[in-house]
Amino acid sequence: MIKRWRYLKQIAIVTSGGDAPGMNAAIRAIVRSAYSKNIKALGFLRGWKGLITNTHRTLTPRSVGGILHLGGTVLNTSRSQLFKRQDGITQASKTLVSNNVDGLVVIGGDGSFRGALELSRRTNTLIVGVPATIDNDVSGTEETIGFDTAVNTAMAEIDKIRDTAISHERLFIIEVMGRKRGFLAATVGLVAGAEVILVPEMKLDREVVFQTLKENAAKGKKSGIIVAAEGVEDTAELAKEIESETGAEVRRSILGYAQRGGNPTARSRLLASLFGEKAVETLAMENGGSLVGLQKGEIVNVALDKSCRTSKRLDLNALKLAATLAT
Ligand code: F6P
Repeated sequence: MIKRWRYLKQIAIVTSGGDAPGMNAAIRAIVRSAYSKNIKALGFLRGWKGLITNTHRTLTPRSVGGILHLGGTVLNTSRSQLFKRQDGITQASKTLVSNNVDGLVVIGGDGSFRGALELSRRTNTLIVGVPATIDNDVSGTEETIGFDTAVNTAMAEIDKIRDTAISHERLFIIEVMGRKRGFLAATVGLVAGAEVILVPEMKLDREVVFQTLKENAAKGKKSGIIVAAEGVEDTAELAKEIESETGAEVRRSILGYAQRGGNPTARSRLLASLFGEKAVETLAMENGGSLVGLQKGEIVNVALDKSCRTSKRLDLNALKLAATLAT
């Protein structure tokens, strides 16, 4: 058998876009998997900016020690506007050549992968994506690194808010992240026992929300939790409307950036380790233009261009189940 990985001498890693808990676990897995195949590793700093400015550091099995359990990314990250321009991409591709980078692993979300796709069209360096975003909105994988941690963080916060909601007999609208998608809201809403879940994928029907809350009150429910994705319309306005329609006291709470930080859960670390290993294996087989993903329990490769042009479908059954269980 020909061990083709012998041809690959050096790979690079970049973390890009919003950070997600487990990115460090992925960096560790990639570096150590690479070294086990005699492949060296570089880390570009501050997302795509590092490729444009040629800012990097050498990564070794020792230098990635002690980071497995840390949130954020030791390589730092950014959202680079320059990378959306042709000159930015050209510069990045020159950086890869000048540093003898045979393969690049991009750890990030869908925006990062659109950048990766553009770059892959302008370079001979093999590129593989590792999905990491709390939004879980990358097409081609059932789950992204960091999603489970964010779900747990948001659930823990909502559990606390539930205490005060019950004590004061109030309704709470709790806004969770997710940009324009409702993956986080749907899962968090289900596991936190929300009475109502609002996601951008479903048109907000105010009458249904008022009706549900009024019925709950009639059944004896004196408090309630409404989980709303940030991509849903103005929740401050909605809180006022609910107050005037139901007569209940309503408060709003925005969970914000805490959802993006903290130590990754076991599940996020496991996914990061499996994705990291698969990314290196993919490059070692001299395959690029793909991302790694989780499908039906298997770690698979997905074409980068297909992932970028497909929108991931939100399973609305979670909302139906949450509604049934919150009666
Ligand atoms: O994509 C992750 C995410 O945290 C979204 O949920 C949120 O809308 C966005 O990033 C915030 O972006 P920024 O870091 O640019 O404020």
